[in-house]
Amino acid sequence: MAGLVPRSFINDIIAKADIVDVVNSRVKLKKAGTNNYQACCPFHHEKTPSFTVSKTKQFYHCFGCGAHGNVLSFLMEYDKLEFVEAIEELAGMLGLDVPREESRQSDKPYVNYQTKKNLYELMQDITTLYQQQLLQSQPAQDYLQQRGLSDEIIQRFSIGFVPDSYDLVVRQFGKNKEEQERLFSLGMVKRSERGTMYDTFRHRVMFPIRDRRGRVIAFGGRVMGDDMPKYLNSPDTVTYHKGNELYGLFEALQVNDSPEKLLVVEGYMDVVALAQFGVDYAVASLGTATTPEQINQLFRTTEQVVCCYDGDRAGRSAAWRALENALPYLEDGRQLKFVFLPDGEDPDSYIRQYGKLQFEDYLQQAQSLSDFLFDHLLKDVKLETKEGKSKLAALAVPLIGRIPGNMLRIYLRNMLASKLGIIDPNQIELLLPNSSRRHESAVKKMPEVKRTPMRLLIALLLQNPKLALEFDYDASSLASLNEPGLALFDKLTALCRNNVGITLGQILEYFRDTEDYKPLEILATWDHLIEEEHISTTYIETYNFLLVQIVERRIEQLIAQDRTDGLDGAEKQELAHLLTVRAK
Ligand code: UTP
Ligand code: MN
Repeated sequence: MAGLVPRSFINDIIAKADIVDVVNSRVKLKKAGTNNYQACCPFHHEKTPSFTVSKTKQFYHCFGCGAHGNVLSFLMEYDKLEFVEAIEELAGMLGLDVPREESRQSDKPYVNYQTKKNLYELMQDITTLYQQQLLQSQPAQDYLQQRGLSDEIIQRFSIGFVPDSYDLVVRQFGKNKEEQERLFSLGMVKRSERGTMYDTFRHRVMFPIRDRRGRVIAFGGRVMGDDMPKYLNSPDTVTYHKGNELYGLFEALQVNDSPEKLLVVEGYMDVVALAQFGVDYAVASLGTATTPEQINQLFRTTEQVVCCYDGDRAGRSAAWRALENALPYLEDGRQLKFVFLPDGEDPDSYIRQYGKLQFEDYLQQAQSLSDFLFDHLLKDVKLETKEGKSKLAALAVPLIGRIPGNMLRIYLRNMLASKLGIIDPNQIELLLPNSSRRHESAVKKMPEVKRTPMRLLIALLLQNPKLALEFDYDASSLASLNEPGLALFDKLTALCRNNVGITLGQILEYFRDTEDYKPLEILATWDHLIEEEHISTTYIETYNFLLVQIVERRIEQLIAQDRTDGLDGAEKQELAHLLTVRAK
């Protein structure tokens, strides 16, 4: 059923759930103060905790990366759920069924959480089937043994086998139309011209691809001989977006959940062979280029990422694309390095021939980002000439400008200056158009909030909803004034008064998907610097200050208009009303 979830139900479960319990079921929290809890942030990599969860506010906030929100936002972010899925997850945790309103229009087909969950279960069942098939195939077992894989590694990566059958999966899991459609949506079966379904993967060694949480979302299948294509991969589906995933990340995190570094390699077999030799921090990018989403995942997990590619042209250009995609993620403290294997080797063949120690020694020679960057740019630039110098500057400055980390950016700029023979690095940028000077971080930064009385008032109320009850002010009598923020302040006041005990987390939910959400979200995390014991007085003083200011301004406006164009009835009434407000 695809109806809307009633608003009242959403408000209800948010009021019932405790964000502390929900977060704690995923991220171990430590008590810090009476009502606050702390942990290392699950949304960025850090060593000292800056992620806090407030029991009174029912809100989480990371001072390091700016992540924040209520319990539903947390589930959406952490479990990678859509809004409705997060509602379903939360309701499930509370033991409630999600009611649906009859939908007014016939919606586009909607994959609800229950079916998505079924999809994950189905992928797991297929994985198990492939694993059983491996145990029944001597040639497949021989193949994996000949590639040097132990039973333990085959288990850890749940490697399986699919025999040469047109309908193993269809027969087992596609007993009716609905089941077949489900298999089809997962890319596990195809439809022939005559309309019959047949297995996508046939006669291959099967590598399940897991997401960060360990759910199987896709497969890669390798032929055992020389047929083409060597690897067949699942298409993108509702549960699988190739550019977002890293093969082997889940398995690496099982061994060590906060690895010092991660190694990015190209192939399934590279990841598995490295793990076989004890290098259990390798992941594969599932294609040639490493995408921005993958880089983001990597730096959420560790501070050091080493990209390992073939030494050939294709390897170098893949490395360069990884570098370009990574620049916006290079906060200070993060390191990106590059290592190129000798001609004709891949990590699998290298570690097999030379062993773990020598492989890790080789990794030590990884080029720093700066070396790789300048080596690459200088390949076809003659620095001796003036043209060469300006070409280098033109290529390097925009790249360097995309780095958010100040230290790294300045370091690279100085390096560029010295290559150009310029003493003052500031001069480099003078050579270039303005637009290339800006730099943007891909990491969410805390927005700068300009301090205005209205913002302060709203922030204080939002963060301390009780204030609406503590003071008996009448925001609604002014809400019609055309004053930015006033209508929102009135709405907030009413909401807080009608829902005694409402929390910040609940309030935000009322505004999700409205135009007020963004500004409220910013004010929810804004550090207004008012100390706890001064909050009440500051609130009412700010209110009074604003009131006087706004009323004065409007009175002046109306009086001026009275002298020129005159006032209509409504305006006369308004003026009279304002004059009484002022008199109070
Ligand atoms: P490689 O051809 O280097 O394969 O492709 P490999 O990983 O070394 O595999 P083995 O050692 O021959 O078994 C590297 C990666 O490129 C993708 C796969 O992800 C593969 O692991 N690829 C390659 C495909 O998707 N399809 C192909 O046909 C070939
Ligand atoms: Mn290989």
